[in-house]
Parts: sequence; C-alpha cells; structure tokens
Amino acid sequence: MKRLGVNIDHVATLRNARGEHHPNPIFAAKFVNRLGADSITIHLREDRRHIKDLDAMKICSLKNLLVNLEISTNTKMIKKALIIKPNYVCIVPENRKEITTEGGLNLKKNKSKLKEIINLFQKKKIRTSLFINPSISDIKIAKTIKADCIEIHTGHFSNLVKSKKNFKKELKKIKECSKLACKLGIEVHAGHGLDYKSTKLLAKINEITEFNIGHFIIGESIFHGFSKVIRNFRKIIR
Ligand code: PXP
Repeated sequence: MKRLGVNIDHVATLRNARGEHHPNPIFAAKFVNRLGADSITIHLREDRRHIKDLDAMKICSLKNLLVNLEISTNTKMIKKALIIKPNYVCIVPENRKEITTEGGLNLKKNKSKLKEIINLFQKKKIRTSLFINPSISDIKIAKTIKADCIEIHTGHFSNLVKSKKNFKKELKKIKECSKLACKLGIEVHAGHGLDYKSTKLLAKINEITEFNIGHFIIGESIFHGFSKVIRNFRKIIR
C-alpha cells in the first residue's frame, strides 16, 4: 500500500509571517494525521525559515504520529536530529539562497560523509532516506552506503507536467531508477513539486511506496480544506 506523507513546513511559514503563534504547526501535524496522512514531514532548515527547533521537538514527541525529518548534512544539524529523534530522516542538500530544495544530493562527492551519517541514524533505529535525482549511478552509490530508502526528486518531472512539456523521458528515468532501487532492496519514495496530475502519473510506478507532498497540499487546502485535499491524494496514490 502506497503511503502519503504531508509536509507541513508552510503552516510554519504562514505562522512566522506574523511572528505570532497561529497557525500552529503542532496542531497541523495532529490534524493531518487524523485526516489520513500516513506520516508528517518537516524540514528543519539551517536558517530556520519555517519549522523551528521547538516545533520539531514537540512534533516528534507526539504519540501515534510518524515523523519524517528532513535535514542537511551539516554536522550541527545531524547532532540536532539525533536529539530530536524523529521516526525517519531524509538527508537533503541545502543552500541558503534557494527558495526550496533545488536538486538531489551529490552522492559521488559526499559518499563517505553520507555513509557515516546513515550509520549514526541506523544505530538509533531511525530509518534513513537520501534525497536524490533520478540517476542510476546514485542508486548504486545509495546501495553501497547502505541507505534504507531513497527519495527521488520529482521537481523537474513536475515542472514538465505543469508546463505541458514532454515528460516521457523523465518519467522513464524515474521508473528505471525505482525498479533498480527496489531490486537492490532500497525503499523508494518520491517528492517535490507534486500536484494531482504529476502524482497520478507517478502512482502507476509500483515500486514507489511513499509520496511526500507539501506546497500543493497547503495551497489547495486554502480553497478546498485539508480534509478534501488529503482524501483526493489518498485516492490517487492508492
Ligand atoms: N521531499 C523533500 C525531500 C523536500 O525537500 C520537499 C520540500 O521541502 C518535499 C518533499 C515537498 O516538496 P513540495 O513542498 O514541493 O511538495
């Protein structure tokens, strides 16, 4: 059964716009969980532009809620994640100037550092995922450094779908990477820039077991409410 992870970073973005307490990301985590999200994703960025340390601590201490914490490879952030103790981590590249995560990790360059990080989390029984571009060579590296999961960056694919350009080649790449990862015993996730249409296309790939979706869910919920939007995504991915 495919799972839906809901990224609630932008609830914190909205809260921070006023510097007050509403809307509350902790309430959002509980709320989307009740509405049928299989897990919650939060990204504790180095610049703390949305989720703050206290949000992450509180969300990760909630009972009956699976939390996927996105974190960069920065040593201080890794230490922080080990204190916060989420159920899952997803290691992402981070660049201060980017609006959102712009691409996957450079696995070739950071292989030994990532291997160490994966080992640290696995010792604490925290499932560890690597956010990567759809690349066969990256899947092979992910296997050698013992990643539990990979999350395929779907940003390029989503942009092609949204702009009605030819997405077939990118879809084929995602499919081939998913099949190889699954064959090598790595769990396959997908995320970034997904909306109803791009998710529907990717949901046909059997090997993808988890979708992590944020911006579109929050935006669409302004018009239709979390309940309807989460229900729609659950229908699409299952
Ligand atoms: N997965 C990862 C690893 C991400 O970094 C993000 C963005 O924070 C997402 C999924 C969600 O992307 P979006 O907000 O575009 O749906």
